Amino acid sequence: MAFVPEFQTSPGMRDILPPESARWRRFVQVFAHVSEGAGYGQVISPLLEDLGVFQRIGDATDVVTKEMYDFVDKGGRHIALRPELTASICRAFVQHRPITPWKIWYTGSQFRYEKPQRGRYRQFDQVGIEVLGADDPYLDVEVIALGWEFFVALGLQKVTLLLNSLGEPPDRAAYVLALKCYFEANLDTLSDESKVTLQKNPLRVLDSKRAQDAAVVAAAPTIAEFYSPGAAEHFAAVQSGLTELGIPFTLDTKLVRGLDYYRHTTFEFTGGTLESAQNALGGGGRYDGLVESLGGPATAGVGFALGLDRTLIACDDEGVFGAHPADVAVFVVDTTGGLQALQITTALRALGIAADRAFENRSMKSQMKAADRSGATYAVIIGSNELEAGTAVVRPLRAERALNPDGSPSDGTQSTISRTDLLDYLQKAIS
Ligand code: HAM
Repeated sequence: MAFVPEFQTSPGMRDILPPESARWRRFVQVFAHVSEGAGYGQVISPLLEDLGVFQRIGDATDVVTKEMYDFVDKGGRHIALRPELTASICRAFVQHRPITPWKIWYTGSQFRYEKPQRGRYRQFDQVGIEVLGADDPYLDVEVIALGWEFFVALGLQKVTLLLNSLGEPPDRAAYVLALKCYFEANLDTLSDESKVTLQKNPLRVLDSKRAQDAAVVAAAPTIAEFYSPGAAEHFAAVQSGLTELGIPFTLDTKLVRGLDYYRHTTFEFTGGTLESAQNALGGGGRYDGLVESLGGPATAGVGFALGLDRTLIACDDEGVFGAHPADVAVFVVDTTGGLQALQITTALRALGIAADRAFENRSMKSQMKAADRSGATYAVIIGSNELEAGTAVVRPLRAERALNPDGSPSDGTQSTISRTDLLDYLQKAIS
């Protein structure tokens, strides 16, 4: 019978092991590079906030009403694990009052009590950017373009950009009312789930993926009919900016997003490979009233977040940005007790050369196996003969990568080197 451990990760939570964990780190490094190259600085905020911070996301959203991990702490504060970072960033803005425009990027884990499946977890990671304090439509374009540039940097080619505008708050309010009337007039054809959604938030009915709702959703009024002149102008400028940059987009008048704070531009990046319910790799938009709702001054805001977990699944499906084991350059095999390996690995690491070794004075065969598994380009071998003679054997393990100290390709034969020359020899061969 297979071994079942007493404790395992709880549903929707995962251990990220090597080499996958190194891929996560590289993912964040690429995102940092793209963001910092455009003047964005990183904000690291707490995992926990007062529940009220997240309630501002919208009390009709699933994220707030159903999925929050909230509890009362020992001091009697009602707090929650963050389900997203936009509200936290706005809270930080109100608290610290930085100079605007405040351009920031972030990364970290989010928590939502959802039904777990491939691409949907209860703890998942995001990277994202937010800009507070500027309502220029070309800023929306910059933000979207940085998301696009990031996907390109990962090597993804099947990402689609969906674009919509929810207009000014009065446009949106008029639209919500029109939708409510429309769906109520078609109540008989709506699925039971959508009837419930309609009571809470008519906009979210547009998100229904149920076949029964497809026809009635397709014929619903569109937001474009309700744009004020200012909203229409803003949206037109965003589209012309994206066209100018050659970023392809698909207008999707049904794109309303799952959080309530959006107005004007909304967008989503979808992948070409995941199930449609999970194919949103990221999304964002404008949220000009959110800072105010958190007690700050009227402040424009725009940003997006990308799901790291989902984007990596899309990378796997497209065969790009793979996980690579963190190979060391040198593996020291020491059958004389291990002290020589201690000296040599320490000296190599001090020179910036990644080095590993075996422990417990294993046999030559077992240590050579470990050397092979480590992915090292060279094994340094010390047996009793070498110890006595003050030498070491350098054996190329990856002939295709190994070089001689003069830079010429190694033919794979091993060399016996004096211990005094060993570090110099390896440094030259590796550099
Ligand atoms: P969101 O659409 O809720 O937006 O989440 C953004 C991305 O996070 C999703 O597209 C998805 O890739 C990932 N994600 C969400 N839930 C899960 C989950 N349960 N498992 C795995 N991945 C998930 C926001 O969070 C907004 N704060 C985005 C934003 C920033 N808007 C303006 N600024």
